[in-house]
Amino acid sequence: MSDPGALVVGGIGELVTNASDVPGDLAVLHDAAVAIEAGTVVWVGDETRLPGPYRGLPVLDVAGRAVVPGFVDAHTHVVFAGDRADEFARRLGGERYEDRLAAGGGILSTVAATRAAGEDELVAQAADRVERMLRAGTTTIEIKSGYGLDVETERRMLRVAHRLGHELPVDVVATFLGAHVVPAEYRDRRDAYVDLVCGPMMDACAPLAEFCDVFCDEAAFDVDESRRILEAGIAHGLRPRVHADQLSRVGAARLAAEVGAVAADHLDHVSDEDLAALAEAGTVAVFLPGVSLSMRAPYPDARRAWDAGVTVAIATDCNPGTAWMERMSFMVALAAIEMGLTPSQSLWAATRGGALALARPDRGRLMPGDRGDLVVLDAPSHLHIPYRPDTDLVGAVVAAGRVVGR
Ligand code: NIG
Ligand code: FE
Repeated sequence: MSDPGALVVGGIGELVTNASDVPGDLAVLHDAAVAIEAGTVVWVGDETRLPGPYRGLPVLDVAGRAVVPGFVDAHTHVVFAGDRADEFARRLGGERYEDRLAAGGGILSTVAATRAAGEDELVAQAADRVERMLRAGTTTIEIKSGYGLDVETERRMLRVAHRLGHELPVDVVATFLGAHVVPAEYRDRRDAYVDLVCGPMMDACAPLAEFCDVFCDEAAFDVDESRRILEAGIAHGLRPRVHADQLSRVGAARLAAEVGAVAADHLDHVSDEDLAALAEAGTVAVFLPGVSLSMRAPYPDARRAWDAGVTVAIATDCNPGTAWMERMSFMVALAAIEMGLTPSQSLWAATRGGALALARPDRGRLMPGDRGDLVVLDAPSHLHIPYRPDTDLVGAVVAAGRVVGR
């Protein structure tokens, strides 16, 4: 019987494998081939040495192009209804994101639109985005809830995330973010909302999620509230991750380290001590360059985190408020041009770093045993990703051994 996840990708001029224990070491091979069986990489090496048994597999000859591991987008809010183009325009005119949220707009306006949308409608809208992301090389994507903020809609969002993973050839990792902000109906009863998140909402959502996230910031949940929610998540089998110190330094990165979070994301306002705590805890720092671009905010210094010994990832944060961006290759370019990472560090952060931020050690890398996810670039070298930031350089995309792009 033919194996749909079997393929040899050959004629690779430059192959980024990330097959090294050193972060940022892309472990590049030249004139290489990758053999995939049943969706899993079985062999990587010099093409002339391709073992006999793999010579009969279907071949994708990339004619000297560069190949990189599939991108791992470790932070998205891609399931939502409506848009906030008006808010974006007002922000360009000087309005503050926090002020819109405090006035009942911002995230809360997306909550209203998402609550009003049916499950099929949410799937259709998000599938459109996720398909574009896949064609742009993202083969693993984290998707958060957080625009429901009631038991029923939070569950619906997580069901939508799972349906996307079944309907599209992309691997979906679901995160429960009931603690995105306090919804309007609980505005004067914050404690009651935290009780709801830790109790009935967690009970309903935990079976559909792998991670529990909290927006720990001045406009959302304080450190004590966030700790309670993350601990409730841990008690329900959810691993913690945190939207940390984005708008101001409230101690969220410290909390992430304290609870052993897999990742701490944003980190616009962290101190050297905070970074040392993340490094010590083994918490991955996820930087989101699209947010700085869209918010016209200073870019956090990802290189400082890297040099402090923190494992660094980059992701899109695709969401209708702070960064409606879908292309990981553009994030690689922004992180290299604006956040102090070298091109190699930036690409590593978008692939292997993302995999580690999702505790998925079998991807973001091309070694035997890893998932057969890769991106063929219409370019001779990965350096072209930041060098030519506005060109669509993704040629073909292979997800679990199947050619899915173009
Ligand atoms: O990651 N910071 C909080 N949450 C999202 C924004 C969500 C929104 O504005 O809709 C973020 O930037
Ligand atoms: Fe986010």
